Amino acid sequence: MAFDIDMIKGVYARMAERVDKAREIVGKPLTLSEKILYSHLWDGIPSKEFTRGKDYVDFAPDRIACQDATAQMALLQFMQAGKPKVAVPTTVHCDHLIQAKSGAAADLKSANNTSAEVFNFLESVSNKYGIGFWKPGAGIIHQVVLENYAFPGGMMIGTDSHTVNAGGLGMVAIGVGGADAVDVMAGMAWELKFPKLIGVRLSGTISGWTAPKDVILKVAEILTAKGGTGAIVEYFGPGAKALSCTGKGTICNMGAEIGATTSTFGYDESMERYLRATERADVADAANAVKEYLTADAEVYENPEQYFDQLIDIDLTALNPLLNGPFTPDLSTAVGDAMTDKATKNDWPLQVEWGLIGSCTNSSYEDLSRASSIAQQAIDKGVKMKAELGINPGSEQVRFTAERDGILDVFEQLDAKIFTNACGPCIGQWARYSDPKNAPKNSIVHSFNRNFAKRADGNPNTHAFVASPEITAAIAIAGRLDFNPMTDSLISENGEEVRFDEPTGWELPPKGFEVEDAGFLAPDEDGSGVVVNVAEDSERLQLLEPFVPIEDNELQGAKLLIKAFGKCTTDHISMAGPWLRYRGHLDNISNNCLIGAVNAYNKKTNFVKSQITGDYGGVPDTQRAYKAAGIRTVVVGDHNYGEGSSREHAAMEPRHLGVAAVIVKSFARIHETNLKKQGMLGLTFANESDYDLIQEDDTFNFVDIADFAPGKPLTIEVVHSDGSKDTILANHTYNEAQIGWYREGSALNVIKRENAS
Ligand code: F3S
Repeated sequence: MAFDIDMIKGVYARMAERVDKAREIVGKPLTLSEKILYSHLWDGIPSKEFTRGKDYVDFAPDRIACQDATAQMALLQFMQAGKPKVAVPTTVHCDHLIQAKSGAAADLKSANNTSAEVFNFLESVSNKYGIGFWKPGAGIIHQVVLENYAFPGGMMIGTDSHTVNAGGLGMVAIGVGGADAVDVMAGMAWELKFPKLIGVRLSGTISGWTAPKDVILKVAEILTAKGGTGAIVEYFGPGAKALSCTGKGTICNMGAEIGATTSTFGYDESMERYLRATERADVADAANAVKEYLTADAEVYENPEQYFDQLIDIDLTALNPLLNGPFTPDLSTAVGDAMTDKATKNDWPLQVEWGLIGSCTNSSYEDLSRASSIAQQAIDKGVKMKAELGINPGSEQVRFTAERDGILDVFEQLDAKIFTNACGPCIGQWARYSDPKNAPKNSIVHSFNRNFAKRADGNPNTHAFVASPEITAAIAIAGRLDFNPMTDSLISENGEEVRFDEPTGWELPPKGFEVEDAGFLAPDEDGSGVVVNVAEDSERLQLLEPFVPIEDNELQGAKLLIKAFGKCTTDHISMAGPWLRYRGHLDNISNNCLIGAVNAYNKKTNFVKSQITGDYGGVPDTQRAYKAAGIRTVVVGDHNYGEGSSREHAAMEPRHLGVAAVIVKSFARIHETNLKKQGMLGLTFANESDYDLIQEDDTFNFVDIADFAPGKPLTIEVVHSDGSKDTILANHTYNEAQIGWYREGSALNVIKRENAS
């Protein structure tokens, strides 16, 4: 499907020289992760060793993938760069904006109506700029990437946190914010802190009811939801080799749930089988020719404690099926009796109302075939389904093949709903209730990755538990959270006691994959004539105007907009939930700007004083009034301001509304970079205690802004309402190029100018 074999061969051609050089510089054998990182340096051949967890390094990823919710703002920004085409192969996947309600056909039709303008926009921009476009219904981004684009030893970024799924095919694949993706699309480097490395040695073999999902559920239990932060998790050992490629994808996928930068596996026969089954024999042949570079050096896996920052051992033979949840993916309980006790103690409903199989985590052919083997047993043994069952196949190729092979029919015989090949319930696009906020307490089991409150159905009382597809099927059939299919019986409709046999299935379809229309649209060779239409009165999309540079004189007499108290994450700055609808419309989504930030003077959210009128009001409205009056403003914040997601809206919204500077005790680094990219001042108090000097009616004079230079703190005169003044120093981390972004209004303005000259 238009994957670029020449690009892949180019990566492999460079690999030997770069990896050999890196090994020489580092002076010891290399892990797989290091080989991929060092062979993708922006500067080409490695010239120095990087310190894990410390050095920021520029990389040159091979691919980019975007999903429909995040692609809107990414592409709107890319359009500003003035480039005729994207600089690296890029695809857009329409999978988030499709509701699961009645079943695939009706739901897809309805999505194509309600989100027509967004889909049409994404399609035309893709066509214009050389981006591959996957239509609504084509599948979930990460399953489609694994089937079509992922390749061993490659590096990709994607505007979705589960981009990491492609580690199943031996990539270093990382989820990023739209602004990072735009940089790479525009031909710039992508910066990442050189990750730490966690090794997971898998011994033994998986068998019976245990599935690859249980490996990552176990790792989540060991490392917890934050344990992988800043690290690449590299799996190896005999147990790893025995796992299927899509099973490896499942494990890497949920690396996002432990906060890992990404996860990966060395190239092996399961990957070769998968590449050949998905019609990429030429990729498999090319990978075979360089396979020593697509896994760690032998010494690394022989003495892993010497090469990884942390080592975890898991014996797959001893691993039993797990059920993780509710409300967090790292709370593990062994399937069976242990759940009876725990659920009773915690008042979790033992009755299960729904089982859901799908999401980018577990929607492969193998997943569906193994779950269907349990469903088939229920039919054969006359067991009636106690809960409802919903299925989201991962791609049209998986769906078509599963239908051809009778797998979907088995689920349908149990009255399962086959939803669209899309995210559906995994991203809250599940029309389960008319009033989710007041819906009853209940339990569901699913094969997804995330199970935070309200994630699937908007109901805060839904207790969601994560399991493998086969355990999900068994528990849904039994209707009980503590059902243990390995030991417990069920009563058939004839009144007989029956037991499930172990699940069976196919790693890959015995008759091969098949699909009539995969849902892919290749872009025009020359897209220059393609017109991108965005309606003037659209609520959901708005073409961007280049940001105008902030003039030095505007920074004399700037007013305080808000002094944020305590935690101020990107969610506080730009909330998600219902605001997702406006992700492609900067002015409309700016109505959520800082509405979650707590005002330090009254401890209320979205309630700040206007220095124009003296009245209190919402942050966006107050700021819009400043903008209308031509007054620049300043936001003051506490520690780690802007932590959370990498969403660029959190920087674009204040910029759009006229905020000039954000001065805080400390920044979350990605947000600080995003502010720089959007042409704003992101500063830190040289003396943290100066935060306390800032009063509600303060005016700021940036007295030496004309001399803004790398390494030189800025001096700011803070004038209080009684006329008294404090002079404070603000540090910054702008280099020469970033000061250029500020001076020209944004990084994109600079790219555009350079492109034009
Ligand atoms: Fe979609 Fe859920 Fe994956 S939202 S991309 S299926 S995590």
